[in-house]
Amino acid sequence: MIAPSILSADFARLAEEAAAVKGADWLHVDVMDAHFVPNLTLGLPIVKSLLKATDIPLDCHLMIEDPDRWAIGYAEAGAHNVTVHAEAIVGDPRAVARDLRAAGAKAGLSLKPGTPLDPWVEVLRDYDTLLIMSVEPGFGGQAFIPEVLDKVRAARRMVDTGHLKVVIEIDGGINDDTIDQAAEAGVDCFVAGSAVYGAADPSRAVAALRERAAQ
Ligand code: DX5
Ligand code: ZN
Repeated sequence: MIAPSILSADFARLAEEAAAVKGADWLHVDVMDAHFVPNLTLGLPIVKSLLKATDIPLDCHLMIEDPDRWAIGYAEAGAHNVTVHAEAIVGDPRAVARDLRAAGAKAGLSLKPGTPLDPWVEVLRDYDTLLIMSVEPGFGGQAFIPEVLDKVRAARRMVDTGHLKVVIEIDGGINDDTIDQAAEAGVDCFVAGSAVYGAADPSRAVAALRERAAQ
């Protein structure tokens, strides 16, 4: 799956930018609060508007503090997938997942590049998506950190041997040059911001990424 990130789109034309990525599986929406990460983007009101403006399922990536409190709103609004950061969860990570699912969303858990997978393996049984960050969260257009591929491989083994129904997603620095390594390591869903919206034809960029990942 390919999930273009609207972080690299024109925020004044979000409906058109969503329509510009034909064939995208999910539309990745980076919610940043200027506390969990040193950047501020958009929040629930804009997500609600975007939900009305596109049929592409929204993949909301919450880079915010206290997701225990705020994530549920995105699920209730109708986001397809709501991903919280493991590092930001205050209470019981299983309760967060349970609430998201009860509100009709898929529950996602994200790990920053330096966050190990091991402590989260058991918790992942309650989640639908594992979002592995391949850059430090906060900004688009950064260089892919190849060291995270070991974590992707470990996650792939864990999902396959444990027969978990978890989608392994990667986010950060994915482009024509890096996507094949990530695909080989076992990624199911690729987020790409600058590689899609920085291209002259974003729909073609989505198709090209998909082709490379399948090679
Ligand atoms: C970064 C965001 C990413 C970002 C990726 O914190 O989570 O989703 O949009 O942008 P690129 O693909 O340009 O690295
Ligand atoms: Zn993201």
